[in-house]
Amino acid sequence: MALAMTHGTHLPQPEIIELRLLLEAIYQAYGYDFRNYSLAHLKRRVEQRLALSGFASISHLQHEILHNPELLPVILQDLSINVSEMFRDPSFYQALRAEVLPILETYPSIRIWHAGCAAGQEAYSMAILLHEAELLERSTLFVTDFNPRLVALAQEGRYPLSAIKKYTANYQATGGSNSFAEYYTVRGNHAEMAAFLRDRMVFSEHNLATDGVFGEMHLVVCRNVLIYFDAQLQNRVLGLFAESLCPGGFLCLGSKETLRFSKHAPIFEAVVERERIYRKRRHQPLEESP
Ligand SMILES: C[S@@+](CC[C@H](N)C(=O)[O-])C[C@H]1O[C@@H](n2cnc3c(N)ncnc32)[C@H](O)[C@@H]1O
Repeated sequence: MALAMTHGTHLPQPEIIELRLLLEAIYQAYGYDFRNYSLAHLKRRVEQRLALSGFASISHLQHEILHNPELLPVILQDLSINVSEMFRDPSFYQALRAEVLPILETYPSIRIWHAGCAAGQEAYSMAILLHEAELLERSTLFVTDFNPRLVALAQEGRYPLSAIKKYTANYQATGGSNSFAEYYTVRGNHAEMAAFLRDRMVFSEHNLATDGVFGEMHLVVCRNVLIYFDAQLQNRVLGLFAESLCPGGFLCLGSKETLRFSKHAPIFEAVVERERIYRKRRHQPLEESP
C-alpha cells in the first residue's frame, strides 16, 4: 500500500508493482538507479516502449532486459528525456551574463559543472558566453551525464544543421556580440563546434542518483533534470550540489524547478529567482537544535 500512496494513487495497481520491479531489475543487473524518478514520467515512457516493441507487459520487458544487455542503451534512452538546445531560455543566459559572470571574473580560475548535459548544447553555450566575456581561458567546464552515449555526443560537439537556425536565434536573443556562425564549421549536414570551446571541457559519466560530490565548483548548472526526479532524489541531488559548491558558488536550475521546497533551501539565497539562479551563502544558517 505504501508504494502507491507515496505517488498519490490509492491502490498498488499491478502495473505500478511491475514498474517498481522493472526498476529494481535494472538497478540490480546494471547499476542504473531509476527507483526515485517521478513515477508518472516513468510510466509514460515505459508505456511508449511497450507500444513500440510489442512486448505484452512490463514484466515481459523486464525479462527481456535481464536476458538481453543490448536492450540497455535503448532503455536508458527511454527512461530519460534528453531534449536540449543551445542558449535554451535566452533570458537565463542574459541573467548569467549580467549577474554571475561579473563575480566569476574576480576569480583567478573558474570551475563549472554541467550536470545532465544531454548532447552538450548547454556546455557549448556556456563556453561561448565565457569566451565573449574573456573568461574562457581560465575556465574549466566539467560536462557530465549518466548516459555514456550522450557524453560521447557532447564530446563530439556536432549538431544537425536543421537545429542551427533555432540555436542562432536563441544566441541572438541573449545579446551575443558575434556572429554565431563564427563558432562552428559546416561539415555535410552537421555543424561542428569550434575546438577552442571544447578544449576547456572535461567530459565524464556521472550519475546524480548514485555518484558523489564533484569537486570545488564555482557554478553548477543542472537544468531540466530534477523535474524527472521524485522529492527524495531531488533532495539528494541538491545536497550533492550544495557540497560541490564553494561558499559563494552559484547554482542554476531549470525554469520549472525550484529550491523553495527543499530542505537545502536555507543554504542558498536567490540571485535571480525568475531565472532560478541561486548562490550558496558564505555563512551557513545555524542548524536548529532538536
Ligand atoms: C531534458 S535533458 C536536459 C539537458 C540540459 N540540461 C538542458 O536543460 O537543456 C535531461 C538530461 O538529464 C540526464 N539525466 C537523467 N538522469 C540523470 C542522472 N541520474 N544523472 C545524470 N544525468 C541524468 C539525461 O540523460 C539528459 O541528458
